[in-house]
Amino acid sequence: INEKSYACWLQYERIEDREWLENNKSRFQSIVVIGNSPILNSALNELNLGIRSMFDNEPTLYKKRVEEASIIIGIYDEIHNQFKELDTNRMEELNEESYIIKTIKNESLLLVGKSDKAVLYAVHHLLRLLQLREPIEHLDIVESPKNQLRMLNQWDNMDGSIERGYSGKSIFYENNRITKNLGRIKDYARFLSSVGINAISINNVNVWKLETKLITNEFLPDVANIADIFRSYGIKIFLSINFASPIEIGQLQTADPLDPDVIKWWKNKAEEIYNFIPDFGGFVVKADSEHRPGPFTYNRNHADGANLLANALKPYGGLVIWRCFVYNCLQDWRDRSTDRAKAAYDHFKPLDGEFLDNVILQVKNGPMDFQVREPVSPLFGALEKTNQMLEFQITQEYTGQQKDLCFLVPLWKEVLEYDTYAKGKGSKVKSIVDGSLFGFKYSGICAVSNIGDDENWTGHTLAQANLYGYGRLIWNPDLSSEAITEEWIRMTFGEDPFIIEQIKSMLLESWSIYENYTAPLGIGWMVNPGHHYGPNIDGYEYSVWGTYHFADRDGIGVDRSIDTGTGYANQYFSPNKEIYNSLDTCPDELLLFFHHVPYGHKLKTGVTVIQHIYDTHFKGVEQVDKLIKKWSTLKGKIDEARYSNVQERLILQLDNAKAWRDQINTYFYRKSGIADEKKRKIY
Ligand code: GCU
Repeated sequence: INEKSYACWLQYERIEDREWLENNKSRFQSIVVIGNSPILNSALNELNLGIRSMFDNEPTLYKKRVEEASIIIGIYDEIHNQFKELDTNRMEELNEESYIIKTIKNESLLLVGKSDKAVLYAVHHLLRLLQLREPIEHLDIVESPKNQLRMLNQWDNMDGSIERGYSGKSIFYENNRITKNLGRIKDYARFLSSVGINAISINNVNVWKLETKLITNEFLPDVANIADIFRSYGIKIFLSINFASPIEIGQLQTADPLDPDVIKWWKNKAEEIYNFIPDFGGFVVKADSEHRPGPFTYNRNHADGANLLANALKPYGGLVIWRCFVYNCLQDWRDRSTDRAKAAYDHFKPLDGEFLDNVILQVKNGPMDFQVREPVSPLFGALEKTNQMLEFQITQEYTGQQKDLCFLVPLWKEVLEYDTYAKGKGSKVKSIVDGSLFGFKYSGICAVSNIGDDENWTGHTLAQANLYGYGRLIWNPDLSSEAITEEWIRMTFGEDPFIIEQIKSMLLESWSIYENYTAPLGIGWMVNPGHHYGPNIDGYEYSVWGTYHFADRDGIGVDRSIDTGTGYANQYFSPNKEIYNSLDTCPDELLLFFHHVPYGHKLKTGVTVIQHIYDTHFKGVEQVDKLIKKWSTLKGKIDEARYSNVQERLILQLDNAKAWRDQINTYFYRKSGIADEKKRKIY
């Protein structure tokens, strides 16, 4: 196994800078841990590993000799009496996940967390500073995560496959069992805790027959083993459940959420689960969505369904994470009045306030489905009385499937910075999901993971940046994309400024490059049905999925305006509603999402829609060419395994970009009959 590929951003490369070493070595001679818990153990082990590897020196571990230790780690309550340097007022205000890192007398380093989990975060923070070779002489850091739930969703199935997985097989399951190879799961937990992830659901949201049994005593002992591992890294586990479980595994005739037997069944089930896993996080539920069972069968609504489960989990502090990805996936394309984009809002807005307080609604970032460009879901801000969390997709289902490079942090950052105007100017998505705008009891962010059992975890080595960046961004949405990118590169590939610059520009441009050669101006889709890789402009045009582009000889786009279209624009608060509704103000990148326009329509850039399509598609391929050239300048400068992994994928990306360019350009040339002004080759 190639260790550099496997180690992701926790390389802990030996520090070569002699001067730096001389100045700082003494600070890393010995460690004392005050307190004892599995998480503190993980913290200590990681610190030890990092120091050993970076300083080539095994630090001494003290049990008690606080005065002599160069690093002191522990939980605030157990430690603060011993250190007058700790500002008690400041610490009292912080939450359970907050920590401080402080240089105290004798130059010792104090790492204090409000909980053992926070101590682990403090250790990772210190290790990050070391990996980044930041100055560490006078540290005085106080940190708290901005979001409460920072979660990953695994879409893993028990046969070892991963829905929308592009990095090999599941690390959790094989041969219809939970894996015996727990080492890999432990390393995953390490990586996740290093960026502050504190929750994970470990099976696919589509819960098939066997996976329905994960909540039975056939599998709960094994699930509990996984929970043990994650617990020691401060991560709670959740399971996706099948709403029809009472029928499938409970021998009931119904799953009606108001049926007394069903209610009792879930109560008992919760008790059983918590016997195995006392700190079980709760359920993730995809119900009445893409053929999954749900409360609609019994003429009940989503609140009835979610509250059934919430009541069962409540005595144990468990949460129900109920997904809002609900739409009619049996639409008739001839029916122009139904608009998939409107569905989540139409289903859930009327139920605002009807959910119990341990329910969280999980909303995808856009109204459709993780396209390269979508508007922000209008449900953000529309739910004032219902706990909400945001769902991103790290796995690159529609963004190149880890063959193509697409660094998603800039996309996520745009979503988080989006102003919904729900409570006037400044009502950003980030302040909705961090709970501050509406005072939600529970909220946060989750994302579909991009890892599998490939040696480098993510298939494309540079896709590791998406996992890292996701964690860092949701810890603190105020971090810039540039800062996160640079951190990741330096931790993963080291300090060479040339390497940093090359990879940084590749990552930061990659989303826009991908957008250039795929579906234009926010229209989305145009992918091969089913697997969703590569171009197929009419692939979904006459299907049941509600994802149409309506291109004809005169124009293209979906009219979602208020007067002449589906009215989707009306789901936004002013002024967003007016901005999207009007052709004059609708931003170019979302034009075809909101409007049907003639090919000759002039964009704000001054070029016509058709010329924009040609220009961006030619440009996209040229840009991929440049990515390949850029990467080739790194040959010999980074290890061969990671170098060739990326190189191979860039070549696949070039093929893909050309296929997109030629199919899109040809299709629209044939439809419109309008030639490229620059007379480039269109087939
Ligand atoms: C997409 C994806 C599915 C997934 C679904 C979901 O439609 O293609 O594989 O199950 O999203 O989020 O539930």
